[in-house]
Amino acid sequence: PPLSECLSLHDIETVARYVMADKAWMYYSSGADDEMTMRENHNAYHRIWFRPRILRDVTEVKFDTKILGHSTQMPLYITATALGKLGHPDGELNLTRSAAKNGIIQMIPTLASCSFDDIRGAATPDQVQFLQLYVNKNREVTERIVRRAEKSGIKGLFVTVDAPQLGRREKDMRMKFDDVGSKEQAESGENVDRSQGAARAISSFIDPSLNWNDLKWIFSITKMPIILKGVQCWQDAVMAAKSGCAGVVLSNHGGRQLDFAPSGIEILPEVMAALKHANVDSSSFEVYVDGGVRRASDILKAVALGAKAVGIGRPFIYAYSAYGEAGVNRAMDILRDEFEMCMRLLGARSLDEVTPEMVNAANLTNV
Ligand code: FNR
Repeated sequence: PPLSECLSLHDIETVARYVMADKAWMYYSSGADDEMTMRENHNAYHRIWFRPRILRDVTEVKFDTKILGHSTQMPLYITATALGKLGHPDGELNLTRSAAKNGIIQMIPTLASCSFDDIRGAATPDQVQFLQLYVNKNREVTERIVRRAEKSGIKGLFVTVDAPQLGRREKDMRMKFDDVGSKEQAESGENVDRSQGAARAISSFIDPSLNWNDLKWIFSITKMPIILKGVQCWQDAVMAAKSGCAGVVLSNHGGRQLDFAPSGIEILPEVMAALKHANVDSSSFEVYVDGGVRRASDILKAVALGAKAVGIGRPFIYAYSAYGEAGVNRAMDILRDEFEMCMRLLGARSLDEVTPEMVNAANLTNV
């Protein structure tokens, strides 16, 4: 169907399911084990309801904000997803170009299919990008990646902490992987097993020994702000703040790691309360959420509960898999349109006005 007939991110996903190669669909769409966490990521948003305000002049509404001090047109960023070329020959570049057009920040994955230099090269001169980091067992490889990123102007380092081993994604494991994910990681010289899907083939370099002490080492090799991606409880969020991190992403990796891990949105209230209790200053420590975000209303719920922004993964990779860069632009248009409507109907003219009183999250928590 023509792109103009897609009216929601769900529509784009439906098209992607039909047009994508099985191997790509299985890798992108899969979650761990019974996929309970993956489904819950989206379902959890359905337990939050709005408490709209009326009779406010909502002629003008804006929803731009800052992430780590950098402007964004909407309170969202494109999160890191590996192996962009499985879905489309231009891979991650589709995201880079659309991010530039739409004033949105892209997080580049360690395991991008396009080279880091090609992705940086496709960015406009003042386009802000972040880097997602998997820490290699060979620390020299990681140090080289981090230093190169800082030198090239990357504005934030998101260290993935929920993946000492990759989860069992059975749909993906049934596929044979015949592509090399990332030349940089392949340099570490590992023999990879290609018989059990993409995730297993590309992940053997990740260091499961990574721990809080290693954070000190990461701080010592870069001045970029460091954010932990994959925090799943308030205790670790407080530890991240005390360790000097610039923020955390409450995330379970899109339900691809520990099944029955809680969704990011579900632990957001306890994390915000714990940070407040620990006197962590919200202007120097930001909290983001990812997983299951499919509507501007989802994003406004997260913002109301204290998130600075959310990460969106699958919707954008489905969008370019089905329609190339135009698909990503369309997804951005849809979100902008939903934001405008939602803000007006909520009675909020800017994101500062989207406060905890605007949502009822009494039934949010299962944990
Ligand atoms: C991911 N994610 C991910 N995270 C990360 O830190 N490094 C990575 O290489 C990847 N790769 C990856 C591939 C694919 C296909 C998916 C779907 C996800 C997790 C990602 O950054 C994010 O946490 C989730 O995608 C958010 O959930 P949604 O938006 O996909 O529901």
